[in-house]
Amino acid sequence: MSKVLVITASPRGERSVSRALTTNFAQNWAKHHPDATVLLRDLGHHPVPHVTEPWVIGASAPPEAQTPESKAAIAVSDQLVDEFLGAERYVFGIPMYNFNIPSTFKAYTDQIVRAGRTFAVGPNGYEGLVKGKKALFITSSGGSYPLGSPMAAYNFQEPYLRTIFGFVGVTDVQFVVADGMAQGEDAAKLSREKAEAALKELATSW
Ligand SMILES: Cc1cc2nc3c(=O)[nH]c(=O)nc-3n(C[C@H](O)[C@H](O)[C@H](O)COP(=O)(O)O)c2cc1C
Repeated sequence: MSKVLVITASPRGERSVSRALTTNFAQNWAKHHPDATVLLRDLGHHPVPHVTEPWVIGASAPPEAQTPESKAAIAVSDQLVDEFLGAERYVFGIPMYNFNIPSTFKAYTDQIVRAGRTFAVGPNGYEGLVKGKKALFITSSGGSYPLGSPMAAYNFQEPYLRTIFGFVGVTDVQFVVADGMAQGEDAAKLSREKAEAALKELATSW
């Protein structure tokens, strides 16, 4: 039975575009995949901790250097990594903040990108350990960053997400983008409808 981890990163509730698109997609996808388990994690309202010095000790120091604080800090990461590795598919709903991901989602990636757990360092360099997974990124932004336009260079969000998830081995990725949310009512409506149509199609084909 396949497991899907659905993560929302907007701090907004009903007004959030990425949250609405993501949760609607998850519900619709689940209808078409009744055998699958859907697990929701709401980073926007329940952020995970940032990396701290005890966390670094927990992740990399020998057993004799561990403290109660380092064990507690890394236990949180271990749990998030277990959850991440336990899923076969990921659906991420992420707003663009300052041309990148919100810090809540960055804190999450810092927790799950772990040497020895999600990537390895070998004689041939880095190797992603998260194999055979699929990720769908549903993003929203006020502006638009079409490839080939001067604004494309401002989009650090999609390249970053492709890079960091590719680094751990998740290379089968798709993006559905609801952009232009601050470019007037008509443009926003059109963009949102386009994203909804793409997600409707993916509910059966993904
Ligand atoms: C703190 C903050 C930073 C933002 N930075 C950008 C940005 O750099 N580029 C952009 O196009 N939109 C930016 N926006 C607009 C959001 O991406 C847009 O409102 C999006 O719909 C938010 O996602 P949500 O509706 O899921 O909350 C920003 C919004 C906030 C609140």
